[in-house]
Amino acid sequence: MAVDVLVVGAYPREHAIAWKLKQSPRVGKIYIAPGNGGTDNVGQTVPIGVMEFEKLADFAVEKKIGFTVAGSDDPIVGGIGDVFRARGLKIWSPSKVAAQLEGSKAFAKEVMREAGVPTAEFKVFTEYEKAVSYVRAKGAPIVVKASGLALGKGVMVCQTLEEAESFLNDVMVKKIFKDSGNEVVIEEFLEGPEISIHALSDGKDFLIFPTSQDHKRSGDGNTGKNTGGMGVIAPLPWVTDAQIEDIRQRIVAPTILRMSDRGTPFQGLLYPGLMMTKNGAKVIEFNARFGCPEAEVYMRLMKSDLLDLLEASEGGTILSQKLEWHSGFAATVIVASGGYPDDYKKGLPITGIDEAEKVPGVVVFHAGTKKENGLLVTSGGRVLSVSGVGATLSEALDKAYEGISKIHFDGMYFRRDIGARTLEMR
Ligand SMILES: Nc1ncnc2c1ncn2[C@@H]1O[C@H](COP(=O)(O)OP(=O)(O)O)[C@@H](O)[C@H]1O
Ligand SMILES: [Mg+2]
Repeated sequence: MAVDVLVVGAYPREHAIAWKLKQSPRVGKIYIAPGNGGTDNVGQTVPIGVMEFEKLADFAVEKKIGFTVAGSDDPIVGGIGDVFRARGLKIWSPSKVAAQLEGSKAFAKEVMREAGVPTAEFKVFTEYEKAVSYVRAKGAPIVVKASGLALGKGVMVCQTLEEAESFLNDVMVKKIFKDSGNEVVIEEFLEGPEISIHALSDGKDFLIFPTSQDHKRSGDGNTGKNTGGMGVIAPLPWVTDAQIEDIRQRIVAPTILRMSDRGTPFQGLLYPGLMMTKNGAKVIEFNARFGCPEAEVYMRLMKSDLLDLLEASEGGTILSQKLEWHSGFAATVIVASGGYPDDYKKGLPITGIDEAEKVPGVVVFHAGTKKENGLLVTSGGRVLSVSGVGATLSEALDKAYEGISKIHFDGMYFRRDIGARTLEMR
């Protein structure tokens, strides 16, 4: 019998997850809450917010939803999994305690220390004065992180001591991220290319995805501020099988084992951000869900049935599944509002998405969009995630950029160098 599913989220990640679920012969109706201006092309958009757990659960009961998929960090870290399970509802989401791997950078560091997982040398502080003395003793460059969730803005890679001290003041004294800054992690600056790993776990075992790479900075050549991500490529041809094996053995496996030994098994998607340093891969942070925009390339490349995989992750049978991928590459480029990640305009009409999707290999996932009187307009900093696939990486990138060339809204902005470093590496 077909399973009706509810996808919780509003990002292009959830749009892509719903798009992929729609291809499953086992999936019946698809609902997306709250979705965005584009998600109605894959399912029914439901106006319930991601943090309204009881309302979402009521909806799942009312519609006889067989499986709910939590996509975003906020509801996952907030414990949507526990609320649904307490009501006997099936949901793919790590438990609230397990999601602390993402929700608290201090907790993640503790688990990494216990599991012997390689990560930047660090110290955790709750007092501003002590934090300042520590950065003075260590010197710059140094990295300061608000421990809690901060929409990708809670981390500052500080090139000077002045920068570090002023950010500490913002976070710990002025509390610009509110309680997310009660605890601060100060860590060693790591150098090397950054990659994303995705491991789908059932609490004991896991399956690892091909590697991918986000581009975090707002500007070409990795300049400008950190953002939620400006574009992703996958797989990375320069990461060797030996490196992936090393990541599996020294990072993913011990983390999953440690979480299970603590009595808080991690069932879901473990996504470590890694720095490939001269001394091997080191964890920058853990996320407890698909990356965004990483999901937009993985969903394009995945051949396996996504419902089968997520059910096996939830049900403790992940090793009964096989991960299969289409050959070739995928790339996605984020089209942002001019000004992002700082202030930007909203409500600007968007045109050309249909034209973009006529380009063979192109799919457009929506981020900050909404429909106003039937008209599609911008409603956020990151507006669209335009993805392309191809036999080669450059073909996938060309497709994505060709797609973007058909799209227009006032002040639209995107990086023109997604994947460029990887293309140069051959
Ligand atoms: N120790 C570090 N050394 C160098 N760069 C870092 C370090 N920690 C974080 N960064 C950079 O800052 C970005 C954001 O940090 P991260 O810990 O992933 O926080 P979040 O995603 O929660 O904002 C990373 O993607 C990386 O580019
Ligand atoms: Mg990150």
